[in-house]
Amino acid sequence: MQVCIFSKEEQLVIILLHFSINVVYSTRFITFLLYESVFLLQMMNKVFGGTVHKKSVREDGVFSVALDNTCSLFRGLQKEELVLLTHGDSVDKVADGFKVVAQSANIVAGIANEQKKLYGTQFHPEVDLTERGMEMLRNFLFEIAGCTSNFTVQNREQVCISEIREKVGKSKVLVLLSGGVDSTVCTALLNKALNQDQVIAVHIDNGFMRKRESQSVEEALTKLGIKLKVVNAAHTFYNGTTTLPISEEDRTPRKRISKTLNMTTNPEEKRKIIGDTFVKVANEVLGEMNLNPEEVFLAQGTLRPDLIESASHIASGKAEVIKTHHNDTELIRKLRDEGKVIEPLKDFHKDEVRALGRELGLPEEIVSRHPFPGPGLSIRVICAEEPYVCKDFAETNNILKIVTDFSASVKKPHALLQRVKLCISDEEEEKLMQITSLHSLNAFLLPIKTVGVQGDCRSYSYVCGVTSKESPHWESLMFLARLIPRMCHTINRVVYIFGSHMKEPPTDITPTFLTKGVLSTLRQADFVAHSILRESGFSSKISQMPVILIPLHFDRDPLQKQPSCRRSVVVRTFITSDFMTGIAAMPGNHIPEEVVLKMVNEIKKIPGISRVMYDLTSKPPGTTEWE
Ligand SMILES: *[C@@H]1O[C@H](CO)[C@@H](O)[C@H](O)[C@H]1NC(C)=O
Ligand SMILES: *[C@@H]1O[C@H](CO)[C@@H](O)[C@H](O)[C@H]1NC(C)=O
Ligand SMILES: *[C@@H]1O[C@H](CO)[C@@H](O)[C@H](O)[C@H]1NC(C)=O
Ligand SMILES: *[C@@H]1O[C@H](CO)[C@@H](O)[C@H](O)[C@H]1NC(C)=O
Repeated sequence: MQVCIFSKEEQLVIILLHFSINVVYSTRFITFLLYESVFLLQMMNKVFGGTVHKKSVREDGVFSVALDNTCSLFRGLQKEELVLLTHGDSVDKVADGFKVVAQSANIVAGIANEQKKLYGTQFHPEVDLTERGMEMLRNFLFEIAGCTSNFTVQNREQVCISEIREKVGKSKVLVLLSGGVDSTVCTALLNKALNQDQVIAVHIDNGFMRKRESQSVEEALTKLGIKLKVVNAAHTFYNGTTTLPISEEDRTPRKRISKTLNMTTNPEEKRKIIGDTFVKVANEVLGEMNLNPEEVFLAQGTLRPDLIESASHIASGKAEVIKTHHNDTELIRKLRDEGKVIEPLKDFHKDEVRALGRELGLPEEIVSRHPFPGPGLSIRVICAEEPYVCKDFAETNNILKIVTDFSASVKKPHALLQRVKLCISDEEEEKLMQITSLHSLNAFLLPIKTVGVQGDCRSYSYVCGVTSKESPHWESLMFLARLIPRMCHTINRVVYIFGSHMKEPPTDITPTFLTKGVLSTLRQADFVAHSILRESGFSSKISQMPVILIPLHFDRDPLQKQPSCRRSVVVRTFITSDFMTGIAAMPGNHIPEEVVLKMVNEIKKIPGISRVMYDLTSKPPGTTEWE
């Protein structure tokens, strides 16, 4: 992010650069003032009486520049360093009081007025391509600008602790632990800042937690001397209901009671029931505890990106897309209204929270855990009573046939061939020819739906499955996964199906609801996949790895009329740095293929599992989660 503050009167340009700086103590984000490289060098030179001219050719790239390492900015560097230079315009006459401190051939690459503490570079110290750029920035921040490097996790922990003590005083603090990193670290921090009897930690187990998740959080907190109240409410959740409008069109306040959660397949209804049940259970639990609202604060593990995300949604007028947090019990609403909410982690990013957690003595298994949604495994079971087959099913399948058999299709033109060709560029056509003449692939729709984003809208739509005769060629599969949703807007995702080549997918499904058995199958698959990922050492390379249970039973002999009773598992590896967009990890590139194959083999051993798939979809068009 670069923010430019430009003030005409003072002829001063300040660029705020927000980026990660790898300084000795930790990797973290800092926001600071920096005289931005290229633009400001020229601006500054001009303002102080020099001249800048446009050169006939632009040159951009990594160059070796000669540095004056007696200049404070370049102290400790060699006389020649590699930098990323971008020059269209460049300095001709250097302003009075400035000297040239960096030079690339006959181009001025850096100027300085040490007395006024003004520095300009024609290159980018903030990028990795400038090999020793971080040292230049460090010189600027610590030696020249006089900043101190006390923004460490340890120091910030002390600051947080004083703030908590000051705010809470002798009152009590209630914290609802989800089991995730943020609320666990928040609880550990409160515990360090306050007396034991001041911290009331409650964890509601909704029955959608991962294997051993509730126990391991409880154990870790017990070790730190925190008494966690665990409420086992799984049954209440499975049997939970909500109120819904009588029908889509009905705008009156009349409501009907929904089916119980264990009979509900609609994803929005599932979420709503879980939200309502959470409020109900929390109300009961807090009611029994007889807390006096006058003497209680509420602590939340909100992080900086959470605040930025909700602010940017509100700023961009997309406030409605924020999922309603049906978290407001009576007590919590009251505390919120009275401003009695504390958010001790609100200035922290995820990696800093993990570092803080380690500092507070939480085990690695907990602090390095991937983010996990509030409704947990419930949104990772694709529930269905019947197959999802719309009227475009057959035609879309025909398009998929043409795509995966493109090299042969072009020889016997089909009405749909033109449609396919219109969607792809010449290079893509060439690549598709190459892929389909080298590999025997097959692609078809699976009769289930999942969430995606096409254009600006959330949509519930098809999944496309790809199988191959040969072992998977990941780069080609990734290419198809980019191409197919662009061609067929009713396809939100593309998965690779491990196992033998398949001509036709099943057209029916295994009826699937959120029941104990179904959840324990998914819980086991999730456990197996994550254990293998953790053991491989690649856990931190993947931002999140949802494991999804889908109601499809493959490889049934049609003659024997074997009923659909098994289910399949999808592994979705997801890599993101902004949590808004992201890609699927490519086996052999981001994660070793053998790690993925091991997951597949181990998951297949779980009773009731038919096949295992790998989600190849980027976000967009596929969201991180499947519902
Ligand atoms: C760092 O030092 C400054 C100045 O002494 C102080 O105001 C600030 O609170 C310190 N920050 C931390 C995190 O210790
Ligand atoms: C499920 O909830 C309903 C009320 O919503 C209750 O009447 C019923 O007894 C519950 N069933 C079980 C098995 O808990
Ligand atoms: C859902 O739960 C209710 C009450 O606990 C039970 O009677 C019913 O059989 C369950 N339904 C399914 C599909 O498991
Ligand atoms: C409810 O609140 C807890 C604690 O503040 C939070 O961790 C969790 O994500 C929230 N759940 C939902 C469904 O919003």
